[in-house]
Amino acid sequence: MSVAPRGFSRIAGTGSYLPQRLVTNRDLEAIVDTSDEWIVERTGIRERHIAADGEFTSDLAAHACRAALAAAGRTPADVDLVVVATSTPDMVFPSSACLLQAKLGIRRGAAFDMQAVCSGFVYALGTADLFVRSGQHRCALVVGAEVFSRILDWKDRSTCVLFGDGAGAVVLEAAAQPGVLSSHLHADGNYAAILRTPGHVAGGAVQGDPTLKMDGGAVFRLAVRVLEENAREALAANAMTVGDLDIYIPHQANVRIVTHVAKKLGLPESKCIVTVDRHANTSAASIPLALDVAVRDGRVKPGHHVLLQGVGGGFTWGSVLLRY
Ligand code: ACO
Repeated sequence: MSVAPRGFSRIAGTGSYLPQRLVTNRDLEAIVDTSDEWIVERTGIRERHIAADGEFTSDLAAHACRAALAAAGRTPADVDLVVVATSTPDMVFPSSACLLQAKLGIRRGAAFDMQAVCSGFVYALGTADLFVRSGQHRCALVVGAEVFSRILDWKDRSTCVLFGDGAGAVVLEAAAQPGVLSSHLHADGNYAAILRTPGHVAGGAVQGDPTLKMDGGAVFRLAVRVLEENAREALAANAMTVGDLDIYIPHQANVRIVTHVAKKLGLPESKCIVTVDRHANTSAASIPLALDVAVRDGRVKPGHHVLLQGVGGGFTWGSVLLRY
């Protein structure tokens, strides 16, 4: 049965959380054959946060959600939908969304995980927007949370220096005015091999390699191409131009990807939010983390047109364009 769209959704509050343990590039020099200079020059990354033993995705998510609820002036009792974007769930099942729901004391509505790797948050936000617009749910927690440190090969310098752990969340509420203007989500599974963590659980053990593998050059080229195309698609669908954008928050994988895309689009650097220097790549958490930073430091203001854009394993990519 289809439900006709009845209204809009808008972000009512943001929150984020970074684990306490800070690991700098210099710290990594003691683990693998790398240097602060190489990492900064090739990626822009200076430091990352790493979760403590026993600290899971739903724990990071709970901190971020409490901050987002406080910012929105809401309590867990108001929430009737929980969507967690993650590729590093606490366990095979239940979903991290259900574990998070219990940690927050929420006992109603739906809760599920969204698996689209680094595009997970825009997939989750686009999906939650449709639920809220339809009238089926009124107040959603949309979360990106990851402990990528658990799926890295800490002997592989070409990948372990790139990632970090963290969580970001938004409260998405029913509204008479947008809010979310549009989402444009894409995938092409033919690119699965260039970024993957191929292990799986069977026979009581992990089968295959459970650490992240990446063809960095191929990922870089694909990311720059699809992000430019997808930004133009989102703007055209809303009869907007690049000049109408106030803030651009792309997935935070590498500062060079952000700079390349901004240059191709003709976006000034002052409109681009960059947090990869302090967070590294936190996969599905990177966009809501960056959004929360920019909301709290005043760069994102009410009424601003903000483009959120993800790209990652799958391959997946997509955008959510919104009026904050
Ligand atoms: N420290 C020092 N040297 C290193 C390191 C390191 N951490 N890693 C690789 N190198 C070496 C390589 O071994 C190579 O040495 P060689 O020339 O002797 O063979 C040299 O540096 C150059 O390696 P390249 O892989 O060609 O380096 P490149 O300039 O392409 O940078 C990088 C690699 C940063 C991974 C780049 O390809 C990239 O940013 N790709 C995008 C991938 C990305 O951001 N992925 C994140 C996950 S995907 C996503 O979120 C969308």
